[in-house]
Amino acid sequence: MTIPSFIEKNKDRFLEELLELLRIPSVSADPKFSKEVQAAAAYVKASLLKAGADQAEICPTPGHPIVYAEKIIDPKLPTVLVYGHYDVQPADPYELWDSPPFEPVIKKTSIHPEGAIFARGAADDKGQFYMHIKALETLVATGTLPCNVKFMIEGEEEIGSDHLNQFVLANKDRLKADVILISDTHMIGMQDPSITVGLRGMAYMEVEVTGANRDLHSGTYGGAVANPINVLCQMIASLKDEQEHITLPGFYDKVQELSPSQRQRLNEAPFDLSEYKAKLDIEEVHGEKGYTTIERVGIRPTLDVNGIWGGYTGEGAKTVLPSKAFAKISMRLVPHQDWQEIAQLFEAHLKSIAPASVKIQVKAHHGGAPAVVSDSSLGYRAAEAAMEETFGKRPLPTREGGSIPIVALFQQELGSDPILFGFGLDTDALHSPNEHYGVKNYFMGIETIIAFFRHFSQLSST
Ligand code: BES
Ligand code: MN
Ligand code: MN
Repeated sequence: MTIPSFIEKNKDRFLEELLELLRIPSVSADPKFSKEVQAAAAYVKASLLKAGADQAEICPTPGHPIVYAEKIIDPKLPTVLVYGHYDVQPADPYELWDSPPFEPVIKKTSIHPEGAIFARGAADDKGQFYMHIKALETLVATGTLPCNVKFMIEGEEEIGSDHLNQFVLANKDRLKADVILISDTHMIGMQDPSITVGLRGMAYMEVEVTGANRDLHSGTYGGAVANPINVLCQMIASLKDEQEHITLPGFYDKVQELSPSQRQRLNEAPFDLSEYKAKLDIEEVHGEKGYTTIERVGIRPTLDVNGIWGGYTGEGAKTVLPSKAFAKISMRLVPHQDWQEIAQLFEAHLKSIAPASVKIQVKAHHGGAPAVVSDSSLGYRAAEAAMEETFGKRPLPTREGGSIPIVALFQQELGSDPILFGFGLDTDALHSPNEHYGVKNYFMGIETIIAFFRHFSQLSST
């Protein structure tokens, strides 16, 4: 059977299998879901075996397991390693979903006239890594698999990939490959295919500010004793100046400015600012002066409060001067910034600006290195050719603001080029209520991955 007819014949099943995976609430952050995380790993393993892998196993870690599988047809042929994650972000707040997050439904939207699958993990990353399993199945079933394939699908990406480093270091030989394929990013649009060549790094911090040793009456003590929430807000506000420049001393020391021509190239990517604002329902964008929105997201570091809490937030009013205030603050980093160094610098600076009227504790949750990947490697050229074939347009290289910390480790330890071959759109609501993934994106992705295998093996043999 030909590849297109095999896909056509199995279309409904390819979709139904993904929906089945999406029904498993594999939320890595919440121990309440640890059984479901295991169930998702088992489902991935079974899918890989069904697709034709010679062997697949669930590799335990001190956290959630990693699914590893391979199909080696000839050790002399090139090898493709696929990485993805079967864990998902928490679905909260549930009440903001139009349909339950783990009961996938397909609905048409203006951006996805052919329909999109609404479910937590639809685009990030179940819908995207599952395309690779269906591509493998198609290649095997049609007798057209031209290279060896390995799969490493982890269950802790959304919580910092804590145990993947160790697994990679301990299995370097087993993971040896000529190229690493990762579908966990966006394209500019269905009409504007792109391949991601840059991701930001991350340093995720938590701050605890303590005032008096107990909550106080805000009349008896207010104005005389530090309010840790007020203090924390002032400290946070001081971390950026009027230019939206981050004021942590040394923060920009290792950041490299791109050349004017590099910046110009970056800004040539199709981008409609008014459409961007309209979709987010904002009157104006906001960010570091002197940089465009594409640059603010792609090549500049940031500092953002992810959550802040303390004091009384219940019904009605309570007059209280709280004893404690907390904030979770993340910094997205760009090439050459080292997350541990930035975490230390953050801690030192916050301690130095905290007034003597409060005590302060700062801790780092997790971090990860930024990454820039080559746009001229064999793998990149094969990906470019594959996208050009299926989308009818040469993809542009883009830099994205999100983070996949493990990419830098792959470059360092496995020495093969990671290709950030994502087929999602930035409007797919990753990490938000009503996350979705286009049905067309899913099938175009499968087709493009299959084309990648052909181009990669052809380019490798010339
Ligand atoms: N798939 C995303 C990363 C991503 C999203 C890259 C959009 C490019 C565009 C990934 O699952 C993710 O959410 N990563 C976290 C990393 C963190 C937990 C260390 C992120 O970016 O917040
Ligand atoms: Mn992801
Ligand atoms: Mn994610």
